[in-house]
Amino acid sequence: MKFLLTGGAGFIGQHVLRRLLARGHDVRVFDSLRPDVHTGACWTPPANVELQIADVRDASAVARAVQGVDGVLHMAAKVGLGVDVGDLPDYASSNDVGTAVLLAAMAKANVLRLTLASSMVAYGEGIGLCREHGAVTPGPRMEKALASGQFEPPCPHCGQPLSPALVSENAPLDPRNAYASSKVVQEFYAANWARLTGGTVAALRYHNVYGPGMPRDTPYAGVAAIFTSALRRGDAPMVFEDGGQRRDFVHVRDVAAATVLAAEKHDSGVRAFNVGSGTPRTVGEMATALAVSLHGRLPIITGRYRLGDVRHITANSTRLKTELGWRPEIEFSAGMAELAAS
Ligand code: UD1
Repeated sequence: MKFLLTGGAGFIGQHVLRRLLARGHDVRVFDSLRPDVHTGACWTPPANVELQIADVRDASAVARAVQGVDGVLHMAAKVGLGVDVGDLPDYASSNDVGTAVLLAAMAKANVLRLTLASSMVAYGEGIGLCREHGAVTPGPRMEKALASGQFEPPCPHCGQPLSPALVSENAPLDPRNAYASSKVVQEFYAANWARLTGGTVAALRYHNVYGPGMPRDTPYAGVAAIFTSALRRGDAPMVFEDGGQRRDFVHVRDVAAATVLAAEKHDSGVRAFNVGSGTPRTVGEMATALAVSLHGRLPIITGRYRLGDVRHITANSTRLKTELGWRPEIEFSAGMAELAAS
């Protein structure tokens, strides 16, 4: 098949590109090479891959990009938690206006197959289990609670502690920061577009993606890259809160495999797929694994916090396995060792 891959020069995009080529597809990459991400040397695509350098908000460039393709994988986005509220317009514009422009161009060119990079942060705090009230959705964490070291969100009904649960794709969407909101809006626009055009959408809700090529030393870097950079400088990883926040660290090659499977196989309606390894870890555990691999300083638990952070994000990726036949292959300690060595 012939695919347009937006964001193909990015961290996840480059792995998706390799996977698409390995599966024998033709690929046109569309990327703005935005300077807040592409700080180093200029990226050059592999031979036989056409690169169009343009912004996804540029309607005429996008109209050219969608010509002659069977489907689009839309990975181009502004990622991360952002620096502060001043980032809001850029999340809305880069992610949501960009997606709207792309969808309009796809409809006009009769390209009706979309694979969208979405995120687990769409679920907010997800689900917790209360002994008395069963599965509940915790509310936003208050600054006062965080400042006094109460990091766990309690049951919204009785205030009792919650035990962990894995969210499915049917959990309510509850974005708690600008990036998360922009991802939810992308999904809604894509669903509206599918209804109007008869198009198909696979929205891949990625967990915390890590692996070789992770962006480093930018305000938008993920925690595994931040810790790797600190350890390489001889510093200790600075772990926020008490280090007990749970995430599912999923290797970028597993994520690329899931994304390409969805692009190849999903051919009816709108479907969300969680993409996680299935084994949640704490941020503290991850910091220790990297420190051990890099023979570096042990993590420091700082008690600091960021207001936009959710406490736990852990999901169930059964749908991706049963419907698309995906299996994550890279085990956590091997993946972290590879990241440390990369
Ligand atoms: C990450 C991704 C987001 C993706 C989501 C999916 C980044 C920047 N964010 O969000 O794009 O959609 O996963 O689940 O890649 N932390 C520390 N020390 C630090 C920095 C962070 O302890 O120096 C902690 C944070 O408090 C947080 C956790 O690490 O609890 C993860 O933070 P981060 O990597 O920024 O990612 P998410 O918010 O999980």
